[in-house]
Amino acid sequence: MASQFTVFFLILSLSTVLVIGEDHGFGRILDRKLLGLNEEKLSHFQFYWHDIVSGRNATSVPVVRPPQNTSTFGFVSMIDNPLTLGPKVSSKLVGRAQGFYASASQEEVSLLMVMNFAFIEGKYNSSTITVLGRNSVFNNMREMPVIGGSGLFRFSRGYAQARTHTFDPKTGDAIVEYNVYVLHY
Ligand SMILES: *[C@@H]1O[C@H](CO)[C@@H](O)[C@H](O)[C@H]1NC(C)=O
Ligand SMILES: *[C@@H]1O[C@H](CO)[C@@H](O)[C@H](O)[C@H]1NC(C)=O
Ligand SMILES: *[C@@H]1O[C@H](CO)[C@@H](O)[C@H](O)[C@H]1NC(C)=O
Repeated sequence: MASQFTVFFLILSLSTVLVIGEDHGFGRILDRKLLGLNEEKLSHFQFYWHDIVSGRNATSVPVVRPPQNTSTFGFVSMIDNPLTLGPKVSSKLVGRAQGFYASASQEEVSLLMVMNFAFIEGKYNSSTITVLGRNSVFNNMREMPVIGGSGLFRFSRGYAQARTHTFDPKTGDAIVEYNVYVLHY
């Protein structure tokens, strides 16, 4: 009984230490240092993104076809694209880009990209970076915002730069170099 009370008061005092400011029961302001959120770091990642649309092992699959034949506007493809260290798909796998892209421009070929980079390599294993942005695929360099992340990338923000490495017009397969700059704790 006594030890239960000790534990109870320990938890109570711990939570009051973490809380700075008003406590509204369901919402409270915490001291960020006590969650280990001290210094923000800037990390850079470079990898290759493989949009494989052809063959039996396609990783990019159309789920919505455009309503009109005249334009690609409205097209949506779900992706589970490999992310590799080198430009070859057989090079080391560091993660996957999971999400979708949608043709969002009636004037040009411009995609809305919605994807999570789900890493499997080293300390980044199981951490994710979320990208949501505009990708005008025929531009030499495209930039998309990093809007958040999980695991090591909690509270993250930044940007991703994409450059097409190769595009095979016969198969439609594309290899894109990504450079991602992320601020995180
Ligand atoms: C598809 O993947 C399987 C298993 O990894 C592999 O054996 C096969 O060669 C692949 N096929 C193509 C067309 O890439
Ligand atoms: C779309 O393509 C189909 C078959 O190719 C054709 O019959 C139809 O008229 C086309 N529609 C438009 C709006 O071009
Ligand atoms: C990544 O983590 C998962 C469990 O979350 C584990 O099964 C897997 O082996 C790990 N992969 C690497 C490359 O460490």
